[in-house]
Parts: sequence; structure tokens; C-alpha cells
Amino acid sequence: MIEVKVPATTANLGSGFDSLGLALDLLLVVRAELGDGEGKVCFKGRGALEMEKDPASNLVIRAMQEVFRKAGEIMPPVDVYIENNIPLGKGLGSSAAAIVAGLYTANALLKDRLDEKELMKMAVAMEGHADNVVPAMVGGLTAVMLEEGEVYYQKLPFPHKLKVIVAVPDFTLPTPKARRVLPSRIDLEEVIGSLQRACFLLASFSTGDFRFLDKAMNDKVFQEARKKFIPGFDEVVREAKKNGALGVALSGAGPSLIALADRDEYLIGEKIKEVWGLHGVNSDVFYLKVHER
Ligand code: HSE
Repeated sequence: MIEVKVPATTANLGSGFDSLGLALDLLLVVRAELGDGEGKVCFKGRGALEMEKDPASNLVIRAMQEVFRKAGEIMPPVDVYIENNIPLGKGLGSSAAAIVAGLYTANALLKDRLDEKELMKMAVAMEGHADNVVPAMVGGLTAVMLEEGEVYYQKLPFPHKLKVIVAVPDFTLPTPKARRVLPSRIDLEEVIGSLQRACFLLASFSTGDFRFLDKAMNDKVFQEARKKFIPGFDEVVREAKKNGALGVALSGAGPSLIALADRDEYLIGEKIKEVWGLHGVNSDVFYLKVHER
């Protein structure tokens, strides 16, 4: 029996749009073995029903098929058991995790015929951007760069002091919808502002000086375009900061929010829940550790 565990991820961290991602200890688990007959797929956990409705298009299975295709093999009947703890469609990398899990599972069935570099390229091609799939594969905090079809990444230390609070609202926001509202062009001043924030964010992580983390995470281009999808966004961010959050941002394409803090994480989580509640949004709050491989 093969077992593959892949973490949830939070991309962007505010200003690192399509560049930064952080793996979190909330897992998608896939177990698989060669089956007889047709092969079965069995779903458990979060989103099991949604996934079950359409196993043929399930990303885990599609990714497995891709690996067999790439290896020039026909996928044999496989019994696949999928246990998902990652909320679907909430900006926590559920699709990246499903793709990575499918690729690893099939590659293990093929006795690791493809190398990690090849799997990473396949994952990025299937997902469309790299900032979730890379930390889902290698864990921790990562910076990615795509150039001429190649995927480059670096792992960075994430400050131990920082606690990650993830607030997940009761509605979904499909990534394609959240990407459609992005500006197709941005002007020089905005490019400079974005670069400055992203550099400052990494500098803050590296020095441990978090005094201006809130400014560094406050992306003014991508997040700005998306916040109309999030009821009470500005007020939730303001109140979280007032209660001790060092920085708050949309998690990936949203609608979840992440807050970073070095104290009072439960107070911050409760505050986000409370303020969102005033805007008619119910939410779950997770206090997560960074997932390292
Ligand atoms: N960087 C991507 C985006 C992440 O913000 O659209 C999607 O999860």
C-alpha cells in the first residue's frame, strides 16, 4: 500500500503574488494499491461529497493519469482512498494538494520513474501557477520563479516565533473567478510598490523585525482587486491588527484570511470570527503549524 500525505498551502502572503507560499499542517492523505477489476476510488473527509460526485474529474485521479501518460504506460486498475482535511475552494491550496498527491502516488506505483523536477513541472502546468504546488511538494516557506518553462525555487526559514491563524469563511471563491478581476496591466508605481512590499516581507522574516509586517503584507494591487468578494474585509483586517495581528492577508486567491502573530492568536481568531459574523459570514478558525518535509 502506498501512502502519500500532502499539506495545505497559503500562497502570496499578501505581497508575494504568485511567488511565495507556505505549507501548513492540514493534510490530504492518499492511499493506493493496484486493484483488480476496475479499480475503486473512495473519498473521506472535507469535500468528500463534492469530490465523489465526479470521480472522473477528480484532480488526484487526473494527476495520476498524467504520470502514467508521461511514462508511456496505461494506468492499471488502482484502488485509491482519499482522505481530505483541506477545505475546498477556500484559498488553501486544495487543488495543488490534490495534483501533487496524484502525481506522487502514481509515481510511487511506477517505482519513482519520474524525478522531482519533472513532477514539479507537471504540477505547475496542471495548476497554472507555482506558489501552491511548490511548498505542497517541498514543505515550509518557498519562493518560486518561472522562466522559459523551468520552475526554480528556494526554501526559506519561516520565523519560529510567528503563529499562523487561518480563518475560513462559509463561502467559496473559485480561483479562476478571483483571477479574472485582476488588472491585466499595472503601472510602474504599482510595480515598484509591490516589489518593495514583497522584499520588505522577506526582510522582516529574515531579521525577525515584524514592526512593519502589516504594511509589507498589505498588497495594493491583487488583494485590492479581490477584496470586493470578501464581506467586511477592511474591518476584519483592522480588528485583527488591533487585537495583536502583525499582518493579515487573503490566503491565496481567498476567500480565507491568514493572520500572523507572535502572541494572542486565539484572541485574534475569535475577533475575526466575531467581525465576520457581523457581516453575515460564519467562519472556522484554524491555528496551524508550518508543515516541513
Ligand atoms: N497566487 C495565486 C493567486 C494563488 O493568488 O491567484 C491561488 O491559490
